[in-house]
Amino acid sequence: MSNTLLIHNIKTLVQVRENKAPISGLAMAELPCLENAWLLLENKKIKDFGKMDNCPERADQIIDATDRMVFPCWCDSHTHLVFAGSREAEFVDRIRGLSYEAIAKRGGGILNSAQKLRSTPEDTLYEQAERRLAEVIGFGTGAIEIKSGYGLTTEAELKMLRVIRRLKDGSSANIKATFLGAHSIPMEYRQKREAYIRILIEEMLPQIAEEGLADYIDVFCEKVAFSISETDQILEAGAKYGLKPKIHTNQFNCMGGIQTAIKHNAISVDHLEVLTTVEIEALKGSSTLATLLPSAPFFLSDHYPPARKLLDADVPVALASDYNPGSTPSGRMSFVLSLACLKMGMLPEEAINAATLNGACAMELGTELGSIAKGKSANVWISRPIPSIAYLPYAFGSDLVEKVILEGKIQ
Ligand code: NIG
Ligand code: FE
Repeated sequence: MSNTLLIHNIKTLVQVRENKAPISGLAMAELPCLENAWLLLENKKIKDFGKMDNCPERADQIIDATDRMVFPCWCDSHTHLVFAGSREAEFVDRIRGLSYEAIAKRGGGILNSAQKLRSTPEDTLYEQAERRLAEVIGFGTGAIEIKSGYGLTTEAELKMLRVIRRLKDGSSANIKATFLGAHSIPMEYRQKREAYIRILIEEMLPQIAEEGLADYIDVFCEKVAFSISETDQILEAGAKYGLKPKIHTNQFNCMGGIQTAIKHNAISVDHLEVLTTVEIEALKGSSTLATLLPSAPFFLSDHYPPARKLLDADVPVALASDYNPGSTPSGRMSFVLSLACLKMGMLPEEAINAATLNGACAMELGTELGSIAKGKSANVWISRPIPSIAYLPYAFGSDLVEKVILEGKIQ
């Protein structure tokens, strides 16, 4: 039986395009829209849309969107939404003058979260994550990538990935799972790193593959985490199980992480707070997306990635939240957009393209999500009355999401 939902009298239907592949350069500044429009959703998909002068009269459910805009849901392609508890004590330590890296070195940071996670039962972890997921869906997120990486033992990494699997099964949002066992070397292996990497490759990966728990593999490729040769070794091992890379790199150091990611055909390289011209050139000739996470440097009072240089070099740019307990305790994508505009010089249109279509592509979901097109998933959000598209990143503290619709159902 078909089930239809009609949204009519839409002031502006935003991001109306057929594209399935990432866009870059000048195309990023174009945001195709339809004024005074309607949108018909049927059985989890976008059935049709048009101008109000040919609006269908009937549907099972009708929403009046007078003065409101309709957007495709945000596609948040980089998060660590499954974690135990919180780390506000480290936030206060940083206010008092300690650096993020110094906190990590003394066994805080990621290892602090790992300790908490190991002692948290799977059901509790699931409940905490489910609440966060409901919160970000309320912010307009309809597709999300979630990483492991706070377990750092076989048992705890599997626990995290099983929680992600449960979230996938129970949610109308599209969820992708990434194995990030290479997030940090656990304290007990600091003097024998290769032993941890061996467990990751010989114990964790085979079990994860057997249970089909991950879509991607990630490595935190940084001086404080994993070296280039370790990254190489881990990505090669992941490839044997069909796991494509999405890499954390260039958050603090330029050490070849980007070139390594490209060599392994990574879907994306994420962070890029520090970036050289040579690295931008390497990305330009590759199929690897640049995913920027401006909430992390905001929260850590760090440099913002050179988004303009990437855009001017025609590199496809995606924006994501990096929601995690250490560097970004927030999954609010509209705030990510405000930072992209204010701190990285992106135009509102560029930021919206980066957080929708290119974000979808950074999760290989470009054929299903990221724009308003017939046949794509019925994952959209309706704004409160707003005067213009630019008002969204401009009014940075306001909650401008009125209704979220996932798979054609009001959430
Ligand atoms: O993407 N940089 C590595 N991982 C996370 C932060 C992890 C943490 O502090 O818990 C990030 O920023
Ligand atoms: Fe991250």
